[in-house]
Amino acid sequence: MKTYKTVAGLRRNLAKEMAKGKTIGFVPTMGALHQGHMSLIKLAVQENDITVCSVFVNPTQFNEKEDLDKYPRTLERDAEMLKENGCHYLFAPGPKAVYPDGAEKSVDLDISALTQHMEGPNRPGHFEGVVQVVHRLLEIVEPDQLYMGQKDFQQFSIIAHMLKTLQMKTKLRVCPIIREADGLAMSSRNVRLKPSIRKRSTILYEALTYIKDNIHKKSPKTLEKKGLEMVSIADFKPEYLKIVDGYTLEPIKDSKDHSYIVACTAVWAGEVRLIDNMILVG
Ligand code: PAJ
Repeated sequence: MKTYKTVAGLRRNLAKEMAKGKTIGFVPTMGALHQGHMSLIKLAVQENDITVCSVFVNPTQFNEKEDLDKYPRTLERDAEMLKENGCHYLFAPGPKAVYPDGAEKSVDLDISALTQHMEGPNRPGHFEGVVQVVHRLLEIVEPDQLYMGQKDFQQFSIIAHMLKTLQMKTKLRVCPIIREADGLAMSSRNVRLKPSIRKRSTILYEALTYIKDNIHKKSPKTLEKKGLEMVSIADFKPEYLKIVDGYTLEPIKDSKDHSYIVACTAVWAGEVRLIDNMILVG
């Protein structure tokens, strides 16, 4: 595996691969890699000639400087894992390489319909930052396929909207959520959970599973209320728990009227913000 910190270095080598007609799969990440990320790498390796992974903690998508500062950075270990899983290129740039003209320039794309609920209102500017960085990384890598996780449901929905609206050539592939044995969705932030809180963090999975089991038996409103109660244990503060249409991300009133339904939640577990979701129908 080759590692590049500059755009020019990566581009030079990718151009050679493209000239040979090789297909390119791309997995953007912020590092502190775990088996969730590796599931994306493995699929990209299976489906493409060349797999590129980026590790870049994108400052423009963080709402709080503290969260950005505390984001775990483990590049050496990340590189080892990527190598073991067959990744060909690691792109690990700094902010100047990604944003040579400064980070103010944003992508001209209306994402307002998809940011009305859930993460949008709770993290103003977050998805604009995600769109900006993914757009820029796609410009650099020019992949045939882009791999993202269902773990960040709203994120991949917005990126799908970007690819379609801007008529970009890259195809999006979405991979299911990889969980710890006890059900907690894997996340780079999990290492920051205190042991007593980590143990009880399975409550998100339990609440989502309860909702899935009852989606055709009780109303979405009743299930949201019950789910919120379930995650409101000591040290845990829910930000939202919503049952939404999987295409529009709008809250639903009756499960019978929708063919694709997902429950999404964000909960503060002590000082760590956890997000999780589950496809209920579809
Ligand atoms: P990051 O949180 O590092 O996640 C990178 C990719 O891994 C995302 O597509 C995410 O959905 C996926 N992922 C994370 N945990 C997962 C899990 N448990 N199972 C399956 N997939 C999982 O998401 C980002 O970085 C950034 O916002 C990024 C897209 C890189 C833009 O900066």
